Amino acid sequence: MDARDLVRSVKSVGSARGLRSLRSAVRRRRLDAAALPRRGPERARVPGAAQGAEPQPGGGVVRFARSSLRVRVAAGGAVFCGWDGAEPEPSYALAGACPAVDERAVLEPDTDGGWRVLSERVLVVVDRHGAVEVRTPGGVVLRRDLPPRWWEPVDGRCAGPGAAEAAYVPTKEAEKEAEGVKGPADARAGARWVQRSEVAADARFFGLGGRAAGPRLRDGSYRLWNTDPGGSFEPGDDPLYLTMPVQLVVADGGSHLVFHDNSWDGRVSVREGVEGEGSGHDRPGGCEVRMDGGPLRYWVMAGTPARVLHAWTALTGAPALPPTWALGYHHARWGFGDAAEVRRVVAGYRERGLPLSALHLDIDHYRGHRVFTVDGERFPDLPGLAAELRGQGVRLVSIVDPAVKAEPGNAVYDSGVAVDAFVRDGRGRRVRGEVWAGDSVFPDFTEPRVRKWWGALYGERLARGFAGVWHDMNEPVSFVAFGDPTLPRSARHALEGRGGDHREAHNVYGLAMARAGYEGLCELRPAERPFLFSRSGWAGVQRYGGSWSGDVATGWPGLRASLALVLGLGLCGVPYSGPDVGGFTGAPSPELFLRWFQLGSLLPFFRTHAAIDAGRREPWEFGAQVLEHAGAALRERARLLPYFVTLAQLAHRTGAPYVRPVWWRSPQDRALRDCEDAYLLGDSLLVAPVLEAGAEWRAVRLPRGRWYDTATGRAYEGPGQVLLPAPLERIPVLARAGSVVPVVGAGGGVELEVWEPAQGRTGGGLLIPDPGDGWERPAAVRFTTRWREGRVGVEREGAAEVGYPVRVRPVAGR
Ligand code: GLC
Repeated sequence: MDARDLVRSVKSVGSARGLRSLRSAVRRRRLDAAALPRRGPERARVPGAAQGAEPQPGGGVVRFARSSLRVRVAAGGAVFCGWDGAEPEPSYALAGACPAVDERAVLEPDTDGGWRVLSERVLVVVDRHGAVEVRTPGGVVLRRDLPPRWWEPVDGRCAGPGAAEAAYVPTKEAEKEAEGVKGPADARAGARWVQRSEVAADARFFGLGGRAAGPRLRDGSYRLWNTDPGGSFEPGDDPLYLTMPVQLVVADGGSHLVFHDNSWDGRVSVREGVEGEGSGHDRPGGCEVRMDGGPLRYWVMAGTPARVLHAWTALTGAPALPPTWALGYHHARWGFGDAAEVRRVVAGYRERGLPLSALHLDIDHYRGHRVFTVDGERFPDLPGLAAELRGQGVRLVSIVDPAVKAEPGNAVYDSGVAVDAFVRDGRGRRVRGEVWAGDSVFPDFTEPRVRKWWGALYGERLARGFAGVWHDMNEPVSFVAFGDPTLPRSARHALEGRGGDHREAHNVYGLAMARAGYEGLCELRPAERPFLFSRSGWAGVQRYGGSWSGDVATGWPGLRASLALVLGLGLCGVPYSGPDVGGFTGAPSPELFLRWFQLGSLLPFFRTHAAIDAGRREPWEFGAQVLEHAGAALRERARLLPYFVTLAQLAHRTGAPYVRPVWWRSPQDRALRDCEDAYLLGDSLLVAPVLEAGAEWRAVRLPRGRWYDTATGRAYEGPGQVLLPAPLERIPVLARAGSVVPVVGAGGGVELEVWEPAQGRTGGGLLIPDPGDGWERPAAVRFTTRWREGRVGVEREGAAEVGYPVRVRPVAGR
């Protein structure tokens, strides 16, 4: 028990919930002690010397004295490496069937007794001890994975459920509950393993899901175990809700992404390299992936950041396209008292002329916190309320938590019991936990039948008038007075029929829940794209929806963490996310609220939200000045909607996140690689939020080329650092010279805002028209900008006419 646990348990004793979470913690510990094997004597194993190789389509298998490695290049250039017979499938990350192999890739002997696989994008060299180098076709080493090491029990037992289970004699009740539960055999659990890798001395690490301290991952150890930090989090807290073993490594020699396809608990330790500044004594950067079990298999993709993200989302699925209304502004709160308060808040926006797209109802609208219910006293006619708000252009979004109150008579519980939906322990009894509604059970989303049952429950939400869903508490959380606030590690899961336990299923729980929700919504309302976002997830969660920061602590550090999270998730293929604007806890100062609001207004998912005991978050609660400037941010967001629609489509089609690090197009610029306080919003805009109190100026590092301050029209030349005014009324936003930004014009239609290219240069941009909320796939419209006869002209690819009004900027300030 660490100090945090101690505080938690002391605090909790005394309340009914506290006692139940104490009991839950004790039960959890007892179950795991009985069902999980104790670690006995272990022996380390390394591959040993290479003995031969067999070519196969797309690569081949290299055999070592004590191991084997399969290298397989997929069409599109992603490389798969699987040790000890690990195959790409089954996998929760892959979007569909494993991609076809690239038949042209061949395995051939290398010098020194090693082997190499040459393909179009990368060269993979396996040395005779099992080190694997990934090089560019030009020979630059991007990554060197040293021979892995496994720890295996000396007596040959694997890390599956232990002997204690065999000695257990079940009660009648448990036997009945256990009917239909898959046996505990879990031979795939395998050994713990570690793999160390080296990268260039100048390399920088990004990714690993949503991390509060980032987006650049500095030296340290990052855990791979989706976790509710409890209460709220700050930049020092790790891990958070949505982790994934995805590293994006950016270096002078090239970028690459590596994904260890393994959902077990693990750690990634990162150590940045040190350059010898010409002395020739560089110390390479390093990283170590250490997993508690599961296969050692990974994918590597190399190329520019854009190419790498494209390959990543080709492998794990195109990011879901949010409906257009979800690109507007959302207001949420835990603790809207009743329908009258909801009406009051919506009216507050309307009366002040502030655009509002959606309003989110949290757990307090449920009856006693039971999922898929409504408190009929406080919300007597929810469908009526939804229709009324809809008439004012405001959609309702509902929170959906996975835990189901374990109570006969609760319809969701009863129907779940009828289809045997809930997770069981090693003895076959339903695992009980403590969540908002009290004593609860947890659907096993790794069972297709359960996903189907759960997905159908969303029909109730649609009938109530909700337009979208917000998945929460799906790490999954079970309150405990001490220890890990989740299910016992020994809890059994179907894992698509393979059978296994929570050690393997934990990290994919939120992902599988997202799949259930998404597929349910598609079936129930096939003409509309679902709106779903989820607190937890794993590699591939973007196929079903976006995410949000979770309970970010109110304060300037929390504001900074908000940006780190969105950038980091985007680099892992999850482009649609945003923070709780204003922070989840307490009461932000007017200045902090405004700065958060300004940043949030230029992130994909723009939503204010706060805890039940936190201060208000309506923009008019912070005085006239904040209201005025927040109003300007809201109107600018609405004006930029066609640009956001285009960015959403691009993310869907190419994997490129809306919010990109400033090095996105110039990863070789080392100063940009270290810049964490600004970002590119698509290709055209650079946003430099104010992240500290009292600032009136912002030092901004620019990528190369000319950039205009969109507020003043003044031009700045990059690369280099410039100082820009950042008065309270706005945060600096710069436009790339030559770019075309689709916006809403004065008449309400789409207009092209064209930012003058530098003399003698050209530029361009893209518009993907709004497809509405259905599945239509509009064609992209491409524009080129250039100087002609002393004026800036715009041309549309494949058409004589531009087809949209054009406004060239800057008009002043030249
Ligand atoms: C969790 C969520 C938060 C929500 C609360 C109550 O803390 O992260 O957004 O308001 O639960 O449902």
